[in-house]
Amino acid sequence: MINRDQISNLRKLFVENYQSAPQKDPEFKPADDSSRSVPGQIRGLHQKIASAQNEQKARASAASVSAPVRSIAVTSGKGGAGKTNFVANLAIAFSRLGKKVLVLDADLGLANIDVIYGLRPKYNLFHVITGQKRLSEIIIEGPCGVKLAPGGSGIVELANINESERNHFLAEMSELEGQVDVILVDTSAGINKNVLCFLKACSEIIFVTLPEPPAIADAYGIIKAVAAQDAGIAQKLYLVVNRVTSVVEAKDVYDRLALVTRRFLNIAIEDMGYIFEDRVVASAVKAQSPYILASPVSSASGCIETIARKMLNIGGEKYGAGSASDRLKNGVRSFFHRIGELFN
Ligand SMILES: Nc1ncnc2c1ncn2[C@@H]1O[C@H](COP(=O)(O)OP(=O)(O)O)[C@@H](O)[C@H]1O
Ligand SMILES: [Mg+2]
Repeated sequence: MINRDQISNLRKLFVENYQSAPQKDPEFKPADDSSRSVPGQIRGLHQKIASAQNEQKARASAASVSAPVRSIAVTSGKGGAGKTNFVANLAIAFSRLGKKVLVLDADLGLANIDVIYGLRPKYNLFHVITGQKRLSEIIIEGPCGVKLAPGGSGIVELANINESERNHFLAEMSELEGQVDVILVDTSAGINKNVLCFLKACSEIIFVTLPEPPAIADAYGIIKAVAAQDAGIAQKLYLVVNRVTSVVEAKDVYDRLALVTRRFLNIAIEDMGYIFEDRVVASAVKAQSPYILASPVSSASGCIETIARKMLNIGGEKYGAGSASDRLKNGVRSFFHRIGELFN
């Protein structure tokens, strides 16, 4: 394998040989043994450079095809913590940082992602599960190339699908393989089987809470419910404190929650930051234009950017390497496979 330095050395050798050849031998003629002649060596160097470059290209494209997919669920226990607004804007931030993002709207409530994006989806996962539509027909494109898969009544339907419907559904989901780096799941309010299945199917969970004690108690409740499902949590857990008025307030909420989850559940949760209370959030919802685009210099937008960068840095460490089988396990199809298995 030839690395970058070796290529530049070969280039230097090429230039030196090329320039020195006529001076050394003005009546130079190609010898029969071309590999020992200067042009022969130059041709050989050319070939080495070309093959090293091809090798590098092949490695780069293999890495891009088989890059692992991150599945991140966003939840809060009760509604109103700001999950949907957070997901809608975080997806755009990821996309602008070069990630291919799929948002799965698994929230059955009102004011969903499509409303925030100003979109009107006609179909949802229900139509894919029942074979009425292809996956490509229900996925709509949001701002900055974010893909949105509206869950609709399909989210409830997932619990009732039979073997052949499940196989059809998974085959449809395979279409997305290679087209998605990050799946962001916006979950419904409440701690029910449906929500817990989505949390279990994802490899990372972001808990969103408000600084008020009832919201912190809700966040603790959902963390406890996830922990109670199996012995131990395999997912990476993060906390985002929404609608804070100071950094100290955010830190205080994180410290309190992290302390009780560690002490009573033996669970570590990572501080993923905070979002300031900001009027632009409500205005953006009304205008159906995400605040990260409508008000890019607002404090809320700055917070989202910071969280997005931090999340991707973590991903860089954790997901940068990995064996082929790890990558397979982290694919889009296997994500939906886990959902199918957990629901049944
Ligand atoms: N950082 C924030 N600053 C001000 N208002 C916010 C903020 N985040 C969310 N909100 C408001 O809180 C309400 C609930 O947000 P939403 O994203 O729908 O929550 P959830 O999906 O958790 O139910 C919305 O009216 C929204 O405008
Ligand atoms: Mg919501």
